[in-house]
Amino acid sequence: MILAGVLGDPIAQSKSPRLHGHWLARHGIDGAYVPLHVRPDDLADTLRLLPRLGFAGVNVTIPHKAAALAAATSATDRARRIGAANTLTFTDDGIEADNTDAPGFLANLDAAGDWPTDRPAVVLGAGGAARAVLVALQERGLPAIRLANRTEATAAALADELGRGIATTPLAAPDLADAGLVVNTTSLGMQGQPPLDLDLAPLPSDALVTDIVYAPLETPLLASAKARGLRTVDGLGMLLHQAAPGFRRWFGVEPMVDGALRAAVLA
Ligand SMILES: NC(=O)c1ccc[n+]([C@@H]2O[C@H](COP(=O)([O-])OP(=O)(O)OC[C@H]3O[C@@H](n4cnc5c(N)ncnc54)[C@H](OP(=O)(O)O)[C@@H]3O)[C@@H](O)[C@H]2O)c1
Repeated sequence: MILAGVLGDPIAQSKSPRLHGHWLARHGIDGAYVPLHVRPDDLADTLRLLPRLGFAGVNVTIPHKAAALAAATSATDRARRIGAANTLTFTDDGIEADNTDAPGFLANLDAAGDWPTDRPAVVLGAGGAARAVLVALQERGLPAIRLANRTEATAAALADELGRGIATTPLAAPDLADAGLVVNTTSLGMQGQPPLDLDLAPLPSDALVTDIVYAPLETPLLASAKARGLRTVDGLGMLLHQAAPGFRRWFGVEPMVDGALRAAVLA
């Protein structure tokens, strides 16, 4: 039996066991994917022990993503650039780290059809998830990225660190002119949080608006974008797509991201 799982603190809210469980059942794989509540002080010991217990790899989530990268034997350039890992694979040589949030974010947008990659993107928020989104947009070669955050110094530091076309813009009134994409990576709009208050009127009518918050699926930002007639993409697909590379590496099958998976995760 092949084992994999997800490490986090807390972990009960994670949808990853249901997601991978759907793929395991669908492909008839003799395997299991389990949630593991691991506190920060126990991460290093846990990562040493899991391969010896037969685990092929694990996902890591809050608060372990930076520490997981530091604990790895090798890492992809993308994970290093983002400064965080969410997918670890155990090999004879040690721990391989990757960050699949960035390709997951792009795959979710691409699945919705063409979107303007030749115009500036506006990214709201400069936390952990924003780092993956920014690196993804740089990889896709967007001509400019405007970064807005409540704590402006955090956005300025992140723009300096990641460089390549990122400039800051105020969160209260971000520069939306000519933008082809708006991404919310703040936690605003999440269940229990205030909505993100953003006037979308200056945004061109062919722009795409996406929110990486997926609880609720239709955030107030997406609802107001729809009301303006703009195209929207919700954040659940990012979660589904980021899971696929780990599943392929650990269980040896390329899984499908489709309506059945979405329904299983939402059930
Ligand atoms: N769809 C997916 O697969 C996926 C993946 C990862 C994360 N997410 C979601 O993305 C969201 C952010 O996650 P994260 O890991 O980046 O969190 P994080 O590192 O804690 O960053 C939170 C961000 O939200 C901003 N923020 C928080 N409260 C705010 C407020 N009241 N007003 C304005 N800005 C506020 C913070 O600004 P300051 O810097 O000013 O504090 C920061 O930019 C979460 O809802 C998470 O569930 C989704």
